[in-house]
Amino acid sequence: MDIQLDRANLKGYVSEKDYKALLPAIQKAHNDLENKTGKGAAFTGWLDLPSRMEDSFLDELVEFGKEVRENSDCLMSIGIGGSYVGIHATLEFLIAEQKLPVHFAGQDLSSNYLYYLLKGLENKRITVVVISKSGTTAEPALAFRIIKKFMQEQYSAEELKKRIICITDPREGALRAIARKAGYRMFPIDPDIGGRFSVLTAAGLVPLAIAGIDIKRLIEGARAAQRYCSRMDMEANIAYQYAAARFLLYKQGKTIEVLSTFYQRLALVEEWWKQLFGESEGKDGKGLFPTSLSFTTDLHSMGQLIQEGRRNMFETFLLIDQPGHGVTVPEDKDNLDNFNCVAGKDLDHVNKQACRATAAAHYEGGVPNMTITVPRFDAYSLGQLFYFFEKAVAIKGYLLGVNPFDQPGVEAYKKKMFELLGRK
Ligand code: PA5
Repeated sequence: MDIQLDRANLKGYVSEKDYKALLPAIQKAHNDLENKTGKGAAFTGWLDLPSRMEDSFLDELVEFGKEVRENSDCLMSIGIGGSYVGIHATLEFLIAEQKLPVHFAGQDLSSNYLYYLLKGLENKRITVVVISKSGTTAEPALAFRIIKKFMQEQYSAEELKKRIICITDPREGALRAIARKAGYRMFPIDPDIGGRFSVLTAAGLVPLAIAGIDIKRLIEGARAAQRYCSRMDMEANIAYQYAAARFLLYKQGKTIEVLSTFYQRLALVEEWWKQLFGESEGKDGKGLFPTSLSFTTDLHSMGQLIQEGRRNMFETFLLIDQPGHGVTVPEDKDNLDNFNCVAGKDLDHVNKQACRATAAAHYEGGVPNMTITVPRFDAYSLGQLFYFFEKAVAIKGYLLGVNPFDQPGVEAYKKKMFELLGRK
């Protein structure tokens, strides 16, 4: 496993003795997860998904993606939550690999956004991927209705069969019914994998393959992480170390976890992480509040609160070891800004020192912190990162005593909204 976890700045908050005392509970969480005897076991299909996935399936998706790409100027990906954020996060992370522009719709109900999006797509050859596991979610359903009408004005029903792809539950749901009636191409989302754990299923892989992302390397990375994160070995398994540290800090009243990055291209990975952790842990009156910051930008705003505000938080830094393609700070003969000290160095050198300085300052200010370092902006690293976080949140959920795989709370607003809309 290439991802590293540095826990040095937990000193004084979490000790080796604390980890040892937690070992029986981790062992139980591990057994319950691996043996499928814990809460929500019916939704743990993601656990061995990378090793189960056939290479021939990936080859087919790569080929399919290429065909669609050749016939399109852009891809419209429609979906929300687990059917949206992992795809967007991957495209941001792997921007260098992207071969086709991808637009997103259905991730909210903003009419103005959709108006301008569609205006910009007039006369473009569009392919649409609609992703909804349940097939009944309001935001993507309405966006699809609107975009389908926009496409019907340009294409025949026959052409739409090539240009609309639906990814949904293979057994039920309105999207499945729509696709079957119109003859749209369908891909299944594994019924035993919940939305926020679905980025490595067809829900994520189909749009990513169309965009030209190396999905085979993504899955290879996830397979490597699966091998490492399946061991009941606290020394080697950093997913379990991370889960344990989060649990022990939470028990001390650190109720907020701030995921901080120094790379803007990780901002959507932070969003994906927020959904995964917030939806998995936040129930039964329990759960850490996951939030995220983008440094150094936010050091000039939220940095004050982290440094000196209420001491109810801890921080996890998410870094890239070798970001690649950098820019060098030039020498300046006058040196009026006094920055010749870094002349000739890559800007990332300054960024890394900013990170070291921030971690030390926040620790001294009473914010314990950990650092997760990912090797590079490549598909293999991201596949590892996705799986690492999925495994960590599952174990932490079991330590908390909640079902990490359901989300009953998200129904409350839907019920009220449908009442207001008069929808049955
Ligand atoms: O994690 C989840 O299950 C949710 O966040 C879903 O991903 C989200 O509500 C979208 O659901 P669906 O794919 O059924 O449209």
